[in-house]
Amino acid sequence: MENSSSTDFWGPSVVTWFNTAPSSALRTHESPRWYPHKDPILGLDVLYDLAMAVFNHRFLEFTAELISRYGGTITYLTLGRQAIYTIDPVNVHAMLTDRTRYQDFGVGSRKQSLKPLLGSGIFTSDGAIWKHHRSMIRPFLSRVQTAEVDVFEIHLQTLFQTLPADGSTVDLQRAFNAMTLDISTHLFLGTSTNVLSSLFHPTSDPSHTRGQQFAAAFDYAQRAISGIDDFGLSGLLWKLVFGDKKLDQSVETVHSFIDDIIEQQLGLSKLNSNSSNKGQNFFSDLLKQGRSKEDIKYDVLNLLLAGKDSNASFLTSVWYVLSQRPDLCAKIREEINTILHGNPATLEDLSKFTYLTMVLQEVLRLYPPVAVNQRTAEVDTVLPHGGGADGESPLRVPRGASVGYSVYAMHRLPEYFGDDVDEFRPERWLDIKPKAAYMPFHAGPRTCLGQHLSMCLAKYSTIRILQHYARVENRNVEPWQEKLGLNCSSRHGALVGLTVSSSLEA
Ligand code: HEM
Repeated sequence: MENSSSTDFWGPSVVTWFNTAPSSALRTHESPRWYPHKDPILGLDVLYDLAMAVFNHRFLEFTAELISRYGGTITYLTLGRQAIYTIDPVNVHAMLTDRTRYQDFGVGSRKQSLKPLLGSGIFTSDGAIWKHHRSMIRPFLSRVQTAEVDVFEIHLQTLFQTLPADGSTVDLQRAFNAMTLDISTHLFLGTSTNVLSSLFHPTSDPSHTRGQQFAAAFDYAQRAISGIDDFGLSGLLWKLVFGDKKLDQSVETVHSFIDDIIEQQLGLSKLNSNSSNKGQNFFSDLLKQGRSKEDIKYDVLNLLLAGKDSNASFLTSVWYVLSQRPDLCAKIREEINTILHGNPATLEDLSKFTYLTMVLQEVLRLYPPVAVNQRTAEVDTVLPHGGGADGESPLRVPRGASVGYSVYAMHRLPEYFGDDVDEFRPERWLDIKPKAAYMPFHAGPRTCLGQHLSMCLAKYSTIRILQHYARVENRNVEPWQEKLGLNCSSRHGALVGLTVSSSLEA
């Protein structure tokens, strides 16, 4: 039973209701390929299945398998509203990159849900306001590039001092969560939270404590706002009925932390207008461009949100894989020796690492930090596939319908990546050019602005970790499982045992 003409999933009245008075553009297209709902009014059956999949940490696999069974694109109901889910790269690219179509789609509900934390910023806006934020952030990030490697090195040194190096088991994910916050605040605020140094050894130093409070509040606010958390059902109901005071307090802590740093940095830049640090924070420049401190706070927060967890997830996946694959570590070590001859890596050196780049591409293929995403139709519009009985005809998308898509599933399509899609095989990148099907950093006008920074951090940190440690032993006992939030991370972290290399000690 795979299309709306089937008899046993819903009555024609509902279909008629949803297709009431379609615009003339839509009338020319065939009916969508509907999910065979048992509840054709609200679609609670599919919501239950999706909720169970999230609960069992199988959402990505469940949706990939479900949608491919229905030909790559399916239309379903979510609380009575029409929604679409696709893993068809042709549809996703039409929606995100097609000049005539991408403006038909906006970022949808996240404009409201993220607003308490992120205000009006690049993630919570569309159209002219989004364009404005993008034009502010882009030049800032290219300036940040010049400081990247030095900042990475500072925080990698802290990592080396913090992690136990006696072979005992440690979760690198915890360390990377702290390190990427320290790096992001260092680069974007000009001053670091420095939470990594006290991660395994709590201190009473007030500056550390404030950084830790900020880290905890930012983390809680993101998890609570994403709607996926470790709350039990009773906790969730409580929050729905009585609100979430902890969320309000967390947002307050986050905002006042950033406000104070902006004030401090502005004070510093007034005192020392020739400061060598001035390229690393953009506050003075932004104020000169007529932006308010409130605007600046939200630009910074949007950047922190974009950069911190996605990078932590990326680095964790790198080491989840590498700790289990000494053969890959050996090849990367060989590349390090050939390119660096024992010298430290510079920004220019990083572009010479072709094998390491393929390893990182393969990590992002199998473990994309932004594994699922969504857009909402702003007007009645059309996608190339998903209509008609076979799903091959154009699909009408009414205004207000959400279109979810799974990058996780697209990255596992054999027709783009080969028959061995589940295998971690960096060499596949010598032969394939998957274009539309590979998009860990998004595509089109809203492509990630931090791609360069993320790839540089992943390359630099992998090189430095391999130089510093003689052995990174696998201690993971569980298979990889998703942990969904605004980003996707590893539920069981990346457990390793580390042994310092005496000869390569840097
Ligand atoms: C591995 C790390 C990262 C991944 C996988 C990643 C992925 C993405 C994706 C998929 C989007 C599109 C989101 C959407 O519109 O729905 C995005 C947007 C964005 N990313 Fe990243 N990102 C990463 C790191 C970073 C970093 C480090 C920064 C900051 C320096 C950053 C800055 C941004 C910004 C500003 C946007 C918004 C672009 C826009 O809407 O115009 N990202 N990123």
